[in-house]
Amino acid sequence: MSRDLLNNANDFTSMLIKTYVKEHHICLDGTVGNGNDTMKILNALNGTGKIYGFDIQEDAINHTESLIFDRNYNTEVLLIKDSHEYVDRYIKERINFAIYNLGYLPGGDKNIKTNYTSTIISIKKVLDLLAPNGILLITVYLGHPGGMDEYTAINDYLETLEQKNYNVFKLKFINQKNNPPITFGVEARGGE
Ligand SMILES: C[S@@+](CC[C@H](N)C(=O)[O-])C[C@H]1O[C@@H](n2cnc3c(N)ncnc32)[C@H](O)[C@@H]1O
Repeated sequence: MSRDLLNNANDFTSMLIKTYVKEHHICLDGTVGNGNDTMKILNALNGTGKIYGFDIQEDAINHTESLIFDRNYNTEVLLIKDSHEYVDRYIKERINFAIYNLGYLPGGDKNIKTNYTSTIISIKKVLDLLAPNGILLITVYLGHPGGMDEYTAINDYLETLEQKNYNVFKLKFINQKNNPPITFGVEARGGE
């Protein structure tokens, strides 16, 4: 049986969404953007569960809302126009799956982008909300101004997480040129 190649970080995260997101899961898309990840999560939830989606840009929220409306899903989707650093104001339940695709909106204003201060605040809050066996995926882009600082801050913070509480991994194409994006994964232990 043939399978698709893993050509980039998006292919990794698509595969991981299919692996981790199960029916009835509570999910978070911390950077909704063009809605691609939100739609992949919706497909995996198959008309069950719930998605919280955050973005600071109205256009991103509106565009993603229209994608969902067009597909008429039954999953509860809450799209929130606010910074993901305030996730704890909106989410009062355990999360099974969370995804962050950092940087700026492709095709949008490159000056409106994630920054390591609010990203780290948000990551810490999401880790507190993760259910046992839940996972947080973070893809970070190094090639834009501020991207390397964001990568370093995330890498340095995730390295400090206790092995007994979390499995932390990093996915990187080591033969690709021009600083390919890197995906971090943090699995919450305690459910085994
Ligand atoms: C790379 S794009 C996300 C792409 C999206 N996941 C997709 O599948 O289309 C990054 C997004 O993060 C958003 N963003 C930047 N800072 C943010 C913040 N503090 N909280 C929430 N979203 C933020 C940007 O507005 C942008 O839409």
